[in-house]
Amino acid sequence: MSSSPTEACSCRRTPSQMAEVLRIDGQHGRASMYAQLFPQLQAMLTNENDLIANLANVSASLKEAFNFHWVGFYRVVDAELVLGPFQGPVACTRIARGRGVCGSAWQRGATIVVPDVDLFPGHIACSSLSRSEIVVPYFNRQDDVAGVLDIDSDRLDDFSSIDQFWLEKITTLLR
Ligand code: SME
Repeated sequence: MSSSPTEACSCRRTPSQMAEVLRIDGQHGRASMYAQLFPQLQAMLTNENDLIANLANVSASLKEAFNFHWVGFYRVVDAELVLGPFQGPVACTRIARGRGVCGSAWQRGATIVVPDVDLFPGHIACSSLSRSEIVVPYFNRQDDVAGVLDIDSDRLDDFSSIDQFWLEKITTLLR
C-alpha cells in the first residue's frame, strides 16, 4: 500500500483534516498545555464517531502530552466497568460499581481526585508505582455514566482543579 508524503497514517480523511501530530509547547505549565491540547482533541474527535477510536486517541494524546504513568478508560458494560483503550502498564480488566476509585466515581457520577492512593479506602492497586490518581466519569447522550477516564501518576498529589477542569471538558467530547 502506498501513501502520499503528507500522510503519516492510512486514514480515509484528506491530509488537511488529519491531526496525526500533536503540537504542544510544554514551556508554560499544565494549564497552558491542556488549553493547547483541547482544540486539537476537539478537531480529532468531531471527525470520528467511533467511540473506541476516540477513547484510544484521547488516551494516547494525554499520555503523549503529559507522560502520566497510566491513562485510560473503563467502559460501563452491563453491571461493571470493563477495561477500554489505555496507555501504560497492563491493568485489571473488571471493576464493580462502588469498588475502588473508578467504581466510586461511576457510582457518584462525579470526578474523584486522590492525592495519595494509599489513603483512599478500597483503592485498587493495578500498579505499585501509582501514587495519586484522578477519575473522571464520561456520559452518554441520556446523561448516564458511560465509563470513566482514569489517570494514575507516579507522583504524590499530582492532580489539581486544573486537571479536573480540563479533563471534565475533554470528556464532554465523548458524548
Ligand atoms: N486504581 C483504580 C483501578 C484502575 S488502575 O489504576 C488502572 C481504582 O482504584 O479504581
